[in-house]
Amino acid sequence: MSNNLSLAITEFGAPEVLTPVNRPIPSPSEEQVLIQVKAAGVNPIDAKTRAGLGWAAEHNRDHLPWVPGYDVAGVVVANGTNESKFDVGDRVAGMIGFPTEGGGYSQYVVADAGLLSTVPPSVPMVDAAAVPLAGLTAWQALEHGKLARDEKVLILAGAGGVGHLAVQLAVRLGAQVFATASENNHAFLRQLDATPIDYHQPHWATANGEFDLVIDLVGVDTAIDALAGLKTGGRIVTVPTNTRDTITSAAAERGLKATGMLVDPNTWQTQRLLDMLDQGDLKIDIAAVYPLEQGAQAHKALETGHTRGKRVLEMPST
Ligand SMILES: NC(=O)c1ccc[n+]([C@@H]2O[C@H](COP(=O)([O-])OP(=O)(O)OC[C@H]3O[C@@H](n4cnc5c(N)ncnc54)[C@H](OP(=O)(O)O)[C@@H]3O)[C@@H](O)[C@H]2O)c1
Repeated sequence: MSNNLSLAITEFGAPEVLTPVNRPIPSPSEEQVLIQVKAAGVNPIDAKTRAGLGWAAEHNRDHLPWVPGYDVAGVVVANGTNESKFDVGDRVAGMIGFPTEGGGYSQYVVADAGLLSTVPPSVPMVDAAAVPLAGLTAWQALEHGKLARDEKVLILAGAGGVGHLAVQLAVRLGAQVFATASENNHAFLRQLDATPIDYHQPHWATANGEFDLVIDLVGVDTAIDALAGLKTGGRIVTVPTNTRDTITSAAAERGLKATGMLVDPNTWQTQRLLDMLDQGDLKIDIAAVYPLEQGAQAHKALETGHTRGKRVLEMPST
């Protein structure tokens, strides 16, 4: 059956290369479930890969068409085996096909059951789809940085997809949380209990005293400027992979500890994040929801570099 509307690229390029296509509905293998996707989160790696940048593009260069999308939330409609941890009708979400396969910008997708978590009934599918990749990155960045209670952490791009979740998790850890953002996002950051810093002002990195840890969600030159704000022996976790080596070298030259990272699809952490949403212990800010066919608009908006929270695609109902 070919009634699986997807957004695919057959060439790398501007957002307009995202093209609606009808593909066959895939069949799940033994470890997999078939998901009727309700919503798919949009992440910077989707746009970078679509543009032909980074290792996911390199990997897919000779295998186009490629369907972007690593974050999905939807309903299980078939199981590869009766032994599956999910039943038909279960609401699930997860980070799938990472880092190269993707596939989430689709009405139907197969995914390993082991990559999926349960979406609590109170959590809207749009919110659930926004959580996995950004939430896991936020959580794991703080883990890599070994953030401890009462430490002072600076989160660069604190209002963005990963940033606003990292801010909330760091606050819950009992840290003193500072976050950079443009002024229009300062009230938002205060609501999340972070102290905002305007990165457009001179000396923003050093104006608030010394930090134990920087979580870098921007990359050079911003991350290199932020090194000046770290105390002696301070740590930086640099998340954008394309500038990781430059920043780790610059940190090492200054005697600072730097770590790069690649997000890991951890279902226990995803479940915990979804449960926190359910319990009101975590908020996800949705900047905009787009019908699947308007994925190009979502990419254009993301590429302005000023998204607050997350952008999500919603699938047409079948
Ligand atoms: N290594 C991994 O596994 C991994 C995983 C996830 C993400 N990433 C990478 O991490 C980065 C962040 O991802 P994301 O999803 O959070 O991105 P995002 O949502 O697109 O980030 C948007 C935010 O960036 C802020 N911003 C832009 N320029 C800034 C600057 N110079 N200083 C401070 N803030 C600035 C904007 O704040 P204002 O509008 O307030 O200016 C906006 O809120 C991306 O490069 C992404 O590819 C890597």
